[in-house]
Amino acid sequence: MIIETIFSTLDPQGNPNFAPMGVVWGEEEMVVRPFRNTHTYRYLMDTGYGVANVTDDVLLFVQSALTDPCLPWFPARYIPGAVLCAACFWRELVVKEAHHTGERAEIRCRVVGGGWQRDFLGFNRGRNAIIEATIMATRLHLYPEQQVWAELQRSEEIVRKTGGERECEAMEYLLDWIRRQLQ
Ligand SMILES: Cc1cc2nc3c(=O)[nH]c(=O)nc-3n(C[C@H](O)[C@H](O)[C@H](O)COP(=O)(O)O)c2cc1C
Repeated sequence: MIIETIFSTLDPQGNPNFAPMGVVWGEEEMVVRPFRNTHTYRYLMDTGYGVANVTDDVLLFVQSALTDPCLPWFPARYIPGAVLCAACFWRELVVKEAHHTGERAEIRCRVVGGGWQRDFLGFNRGRNAIIEATIMATRLHLYPEQQVWAELQRSEEIVRKTGGERECEAMEYLLDWIRRQLQ
C-alpha cells in the first residue's frame, strides 16, 4: 500500500529538502517513486539516505509540495538525515537499489530505524480533499483551467464543512498559489 509521506533528503550542503512522496510502505523495505526531475530524486540518489515522515498536518503537505519551506526539523538517529518536527512517526531509509528507466525512478530502500512522537489523529474528507487538490496543483499543466477551478470549489466546500483552522489555512495557501500560477 502507498502511504503519503513528507519525504526528506539532504542537499549537497546538508540542508534538508522536504517534499510529499507516496511510498510503498513496508516494515523492512520501502519503495520511493520520485519523478526524475525532482530534488528528492537527485538528493536521494546522491546521498543514499532519506526519511519518510508521516504527519496529519496537511498545511505542511501543501507548503512542501508547492514551495521550498524551511520546516522545523531535527537530525535523524541512524543516518545523516532530517526528521520533520511535525512528524507523528518516521522511518529512516538507506537506498538499496534503484531503477531509472521510466519517468519515475523506483528506489528500493532498507528501513534502518525510525521513531514516534505522537498519535496520528487521522484524515477526514477535508484533509483528503486538500491532499488531492495539492496533487492536482503539482500537475497543473495536465488539467484544463475550468476543471481546476471546479475541483477547487468542490474541495473548498468540503474543507469548510469538515476542516479546522489548519485545513482552512492550507486551502487558502493552495488557492493563492494556484491563482498566482494561472494569472
Ligand atoms: C500527496 C502527494 C504525493 C506525492 N507523491 C509523489 C511521488 O510519489 N513522486 C513524485 O515524484 N512526486 C510526488 N508528489 C509531487 C511532489 O511532492 C512535488 O513535485 C514536489 O514539488 C517535489 O519536490 P522536490 O523537487 O523538492 O523533490 C506528490 C505530491 C503530493 C501532494
